[in-house]
Amino acid sequence: MDHFLYRDGALFAEDVPVSEIAAAVGTPFYVYSTATLLRHFKLFDDALDGTDHLVCYAMKAASNQAILKTLAQAGAGMDVVSGGEYLRAKAAGVPGDKIVFSGVGKTADEIRMALSGGIRQFNVESEPEMEVINAIALELGVIAPITVRVNPDVDARTHAKIATGKSENKFGIPIARASEVYAHAASLPGLEVIGIDVHIGSQLTELEPYELAYKKVAELTERLRSEGHNIRRLDLGGGLGIPYTRSNNAPPLPIEYGALVKRTLGHLGCEIEIEPGRLIAGNAGIMVSKVIYVKSGEGRDFLILDGAMNDLIRPAMYEAYHDIVAVQEPVAGVEQRPYDIVGPVCESGDTFAKQRNMPPLRSGDLVAFRSAGAYGAVMSSEYNTRPLIPEVLVNGDQFAVIRERPSFDEIINRDTIPSWL
Ligand code: LLP
Repeated sequence: MDHFLYRDGALFAEDVPVSEIAAAVGTPFYVYSTATLLRHFKLFDDALDGTDHLVCYAMKAASNQAILKTLAQAGAGMDVVSGGEYLRAKAAGVPGDKIVFSGVGKTADEIRMALSGGIRQFNVESEPEMEVINAIALELGVIAPITVRVNPDVDARTHAKIATGKSENKFGIPIARASEVYAHAASLPGLEVIGIDVHIGSQLTELEPYELAYKKVAELTERLRSEGHNIRRLDLGGGLGIPYTRSNNAPPLPIEYGALVKRTLGHLGCEIEIEPGRLIAGNAGIMVSKVIYVKSGEGRDFLILDGAMNDLIRPAMYEAYHDIVAVQEPVAGVEQRPYDIVGPVCESGDTFAKQRNMPPLRSGDLVAFRSAGAYGAVMSSEYNTRPLIPEVLVNGDQFAVIRERPSFDEIINRDTIPSWL
């Protein structure tokens, strides 16, 4: 459920007409709903009710500071994967002890930054990384709390580009080597081993892969404890999928996921951490774009929008499906026609949807891409020297621009011309 609904024939973001935002900021733009963000965070928080837990929002999904602040004020921690994300979380007011640092290639500078600024834990992904964290902790005179990310060799049954839990993926250490790696970690005086981390992929639409992975984590917890490690925190990653269509095979709900976590791991008495990104932000955001031209082609018609693959890359990159709806609600029973919905970028990959049934649309009409809040704005670029599009946050009947569209001068002046030219 989200807060982008039609009222009296027009699409609203909470209590604000989307067309009013379009008139104020121009198209294309992203708009997020505070109520939806908070609702989704609370679904996870409630799902783990009764266990000691922290929901660490995977801010890679949508990292505007206004979004971070909204969630942090509701009690969320953050999962970060770069020094930039760490600084962003800090700038949004998240305390270091609620920030988890994940990622397969943390640099020495990033590690130093987090150890100096405060960190809840590093999720370590390799032995060389462990050595570097140890050395920097000793140099700074601190102890670095760590978990080790284990790769459980479980098929998440999702798109190959976002599956992370198979042995051929670059993530984590093979679970079979865990004893050895934990013994190594325990021998390093700058580290304190506090738990285990696992994340098997994104947009999971079934619970079974989680169940397989979490059972392995439960066994591993007991084994590592018997080997003398004080395992007291389990970071279970993110990945729960969202419905991108209104079909009836919706992914499992956070409450069902929470029940699975309690069933597979509850007996261990560990603090539970989860890192959802998409489920919190995905359906809390839409991208709004305008039809530039309706073009008749050979046997097919095109809707050419002012938004493009540089603004929302998911269809081009993952063959992802996004519902695209007219901002002016189509009259009931109006005849729909198939269109290829494309952007203006100079490659055929700049196609959002092929032969998608749409109501009659004309140049100047607005359309909205649903479920675009996660991995939308954060993955956008200025390809074709198209400015990054603005982000807007709605809260009830208020809205605010939370990232401005840069001017062409700002973009062009970022280049510097070498002295020999
Ligand atoms: N934790 C870790 C260690 C991760 O790598 C990820 C996502 C998450 C948590 C959050 O997963 P989520 O709950 O959002 O599924 N750009 C792709 C998705 C990439 C996901 C990368 N890692 C897309 O647009 O589908």
